[in-house]
Amino acid sequence: MPELVSMRTDGDVAVITIDNPPVNAMKHEVRVSLLDLVVRAAGDPAISAVVIACAGRTFVAGADITEFGQPPRQPTAIAIIEAIEASPKPVVAALHGTPLGGGLELALGCHFRVAAPGTRPGLPEIKLGIIPGAGGTQRLPRLVGMDKAMAMILTGEPISAREALDSGLVDEIVEGDLVAGAIAFARRIVAGKRPLGLVRNRDEKLVSVRDIAAFDAAAANYTRRAKGQNAPAAAIAALRGAITLPVADALKRERDLFLELVAGDQSKAQRHIFFAEREAAKVPDLAGVKAHDIRKAAVIGAGTMGGGIAMCFANAGIPVTVVESDDEALARGLDTVARNYRNTAARGGLAADEMEARIRRITGTTDLAAVADADIVIEAVFEEMDVKQEVFGRLDRIVKGGAVIASNTSYLDIDVLARSTARPQAVLGMHFFSPANVMRLLEVVRGAATSPETLATAIAVGRKLGKVPAVVGVCHGFVGNRMLRLRSIEAERLLLEGALPQDVDAALTDFGFPMGPFAMADLAGLDVGWRMRKAQGLTAPIADELCERGRYGQKTGRGFYLYDRGSRTPQPDPEVERLIVDAAARRGLARRALGKDEMVERLLFPMINEGARILREGIAQRPGDIDVIWVYGYGFPVYRGGPMHYADSVGLRYIRDRLAAFAETTGDERHRPAPLLEELAAAGKGFASLRG
Ligand code: 3HC
Ligand code: NAI
Repeated sequence: MPELVSMRTDGDVAVITIDNPPVNAMKHEVRVSLLDLVVRAAGDPAISAVVIACAGRTFVAGADITEFGQPPRQPTAIAIIEAIEASPKPVVAALHGTPLGGGLELALGCHFRVAAPGTRPGLPEIKLGIIPGAGGTQRLPRLVGMDKAMAMILTGEPISAREALDSGLVDEIVEGDLVAGAIAFARRIVAGKRPLGLVRNRDEKLVSVRDIAAFDAAAANYTRRAKGQNAPAAAIAALRGAITLPVADALKRERDLFLELVAGDQSKAQRHIFFAEREAAKVPDLAGVKAHDIRKAAVIGAGTMGGGIAMCFANAGIPVTVVESDDEALARGLDTVARNYRNTAARGGLAADEMEARIRRITGTTDLAAVADADIVIEAVFEEMDVKQEVFGRLDRIVKGGAVIASNTSYLDIDVLARSTARPQAVLGMHFFSPANVMRLLEVVRGAATSPETLATAIAVGRKLGKVPAVVGVCHGFVGNRMLRLRSIEAERLLLEGALPQDVDAALTDFGFPMGPFAMADLAGLDVGWRMRKAQGLTAPIADELCERGRYGQKTGRGFYLYDRGSRTPQPDPEVERLIVDAAARRGLARRALGKDEMVERLLFPMINEGARILREGIAQRPGDIDVIWVYGYGFPVYRGGPMHYADSVGLRYIRDRLAAFAETTGDERHRPAPLLEELAAAGKGFASLRG
């Protein structure tokens, strides 16, 4: 086995190489060896410069996240950076891939940085609910200026090699062999006797931002959007130190804030989601199964979802044919797609030539025969079984052998659809979320007959489209919508019991959801659910009555709320309040004031209970899969880790007892604690204990 960290010499230049696949995370053993070699090189009279590089696909992509939450072990990355800064010889970081977090901080501690083209450096700690903890908030603004540093640290997004060069983050882009280029760079530094300034002592880019008021105004743009989260405010506090404190004090402050966040619940929840996201697409019996190559795709239906799904393929560079039932619907669908692209381009999100290229990758037709050579076909026609079955039957006669045939259905039985073909092994669900070109979640629904190759291909395609695939089984509504349904029922019940739509929505937005259930329903259109309920003989007392009055939500300017012409801002409507009060009176219900905490429990605990049923039935493989689905598909606050992680943090005994009490008062059997929840609560365990 190659050493984790090794050193070789090239003349008088020492090259230290880190080799800890897959991403060269700086785990404890790496830190020990790296520190040792840096100190040795610095003290070796035969060495005049040092290059730190990495083997494999990337420069160090950060601290080893699995070590967080355990007692810190020396040396820390800070000790390594201090050893580099104490070196009398230039230390050059040779960057490639994704130098992230502690990896970029290591590079910022070096005297110089060179990078391969395509390198994407960043400080993504905020996405893990923490802030850079090894000097990133102090050294980055000194190199690239406060505005850029604030943007990088507060969004967590990496920048391109070009931006890194232009902003001063790297000193040179090396074309060709990176390490050879870094060695040559180091030799030029030595030969030119360039002084070894330390990034921490630079001040020139901070002089202009000593204006605290301007700093605070810029900071507010980020913290305003981060309600409820601790890390953004801490990042701002640390960055502020760069302009208000001596650097040593500011570094200490950063470290203290980092340690506090790492130990906190929010970071724990976000780390859980980081790993759960990567696990959700893993299926034990798929090991070694190869995904098919996808060169051409087809989408059936160019409505809300079909258009968005086609954009996903076009964005990923895959040509896609869109099939509609008639010319008019096709033109409408393609127009919407083109308008979406133009809007993105107008906002500066897409270069004009790239926009054209993407639009060109989408071909429209009304002839289903055009999908014959597609490697994957995704059906997104009306949510009606007979319509879909007919489409599947026709596809079966047209689509080439080996291709994947997927349905974007929200609720319907994939196994029934599969049986409309003579190749059920090629059929599965690929449930995108609206807007499909934006939302990251992809529920991959494995049917009873779906072959491992089909499943592996759908997962691989999802990844290629930039989605987070989560594999689920067949049931009405799969994982996400099945749980959502319980929340919707409860939200209506709260209205009858005493709340108003704005109260219920506020309870959930305060909890951290971007939108409450009623604002969400108005956005999606109330008529959709109404039609579905009617077809199934179900009711939702308030929503049904709103629909009967022609209040379909934003599209009609009125729903649970009122909307001014062209506005998307929901305004409470006295007519809705009257409607609710009357509906309660007709049912003989005495309305009462409901507290926010009570509403949150009423909305979330039944969902968690359903999650327990879903796990027991094997519809979801792991609690973390459910969490990923809710965070990426339904806006569950990531810093609470998804419903099942949240349940563990609340305690299952408490949830079980509350559910049992709800069942008594509502008489709703679905509130009876699910057997799995009962068992775990009785054993004093959490859902996390189900991990194998
Ligand atoms: N620590 C531990 N494991 C990590 C890791 C890390 N920092 N980064 C990635 N991994 C693991 C993943 O869990 C995955 O494991 P698996 O194969 O068992 O599922 C494997 O490495 C490969 O990762 P991806 O599947 O994500 O590979 P990609 O090529 O798609 O992406 C990446 C690579 C862009 C580096 C992505 O993994 C990533 O964003 N990693 C996290 C980077 C990060 O957040 N770094 C900051 C850490 S915090 C820090 O440094 C604190 C400091 O300030 C003190
Ligand atoms: P939509 O009504 O906007 O679009 C459906 C399109 O399919 C229409 O343009 C229609 O002309 C076309 N179509 C109907 N029959 C056809 C046929 N035989 N051949 C070709 N085209 C045909 O519906 P939407 O919202 O896009 O939904 C499509 C599917 O996606 C449904 O199964 C729905 O449940 C699912 N879905 C919808 C989501 C949403 O938020 N709208 C979210 C996730 C899934």
